[in-house]
Amino acid sequence: MRPIKPIIKPIVQPIEWTPAGVVMIDQRRLPAELVHNTYTDYQGVAGAIRDMVIRGAPAIGVAAAMGIALGVQHSKARSVAELRAEFPAICEALARTRPTAVDLFWAVDRMKRRFAEAAQAGDLAAIRDSLIAEAGRIHAEKQSVDEAIGRFGAPLMPENGQVMTQCNAGALATAGIGTALGVIRVAVEQGRKLRVIVPETRPYLQGARLTAWELAQDGIPLTLITDNMVGHFLKTGKIGAVVVGADRVAANGDTANKIGTYQIAVLAREHNVPFYVAAPISTLDLSIASGESIPIEERSSEEVTHIRGVRIAPDVEAAHPAFDVTPARLIAGIITERGLASPPYCESLARLVAQSAAKRDEISSAAPERPASAR
Ligand code: MRU
Repeated sequence: MRPIKPIIKPIVQPIEWTPAGVVMIDQRRLPAELVHNTYTDYQGVAGAIRDMVIRGAPAIGVAAAMGIALGVQHSKARSVAELRAEFPAICEALARTRPTAVDLFWAVDRMKRRFAEAAQAGDLAAIRDSLIAEAGRIHAEKQSVDEAIGRFGAPLMPENGQVMTQCNAGALATAGIGTALGVIRVAVEQGRKLRVIVPETRPYLQGARLTAWELAQDGIPLTLITDNMVGHFLKTGKIGAVVVGADRVAANGDTANKIGTYQIAVLAREHNVPFYVAAPISTLDLSIASGESIPIEERSSEEVTHIRGVRIAPDVEAAHPAFDVTPARLIAGIITERGLASPPYCESLARLVAQSAAKRDEISSAAPERPASAR
């Protein structure tokens, strides 16, 4: 992707590659405390993804790429052959952290391709440099990708009104300006007067803890609601649009996102409110025909029975599917960095992915120092 001049500075950066290690905001402790953790080995990065120190589909892709780069940087391998033997275990440790967000696997695959190429020609130092650089590129691309999504999505927002989102699809979740919140940020930047209705997003409270925090930092008006107020707010006719992020979009447009998204989409349809998904091309998984094949992460029931270690329910069975799937028929449009996909999604998404691949080839042929086979 060509660099685009940033129009909005990210208000917060959830992850950084530093000489001391990979530094992440501990999102579990927001908004009460802004704490940074430093990870010096790939196992630590994998644990941080699994334990939700960092979360949000694109951001965990960045974390996985940096984790792999860290693993290679600190490997004790004394030859390319030894590193080649160790590399799959490093990738596997990162890939096994969370099953639903496809950005994670997209980033791991991209690092694998980079490794294969660097290992063909280079020595150990060159391979390390190459993987650190690739993780940096994956990170840097988030800003321009999110801004492009924002520009395509902003005209779909009301001129003056309320929009609903779900979970946190902001800077904390992408390491850019956010996907759903990126659309809202660009719309506000362009002069639209928006108030964001933020469902708290039980059980993990990404809406209450993270989205409310991000929007408040940005000075964007918001109203926090509990999840069981969603129907009421959509019914009273005061919501102009819904815009949410995604963890995986199947070839037919079915979209997995944070648990609770599906019920918002159903209620939005009932009350004629357009429901949009904002997601980068890296979140599209055209290898999956429909949402039925998207793996849904089941998280600990303790995240339901407890809030921050405090028990709020008796010791009973509790379920915690972390995501649900919204059928494509409820989605008015999927906003990507290559444009808006409209139904039928089988055609529109395939077209955008093909365009994206063509663009990549065009950029790689214009950049001889980065061989085309790497992309
Ligand atoms: O469990 P989480 O917090 O990682 O879930 C995050 C979401 O569901 C987001 O909406 C999604 O990843 C899109 S982030 C741009």
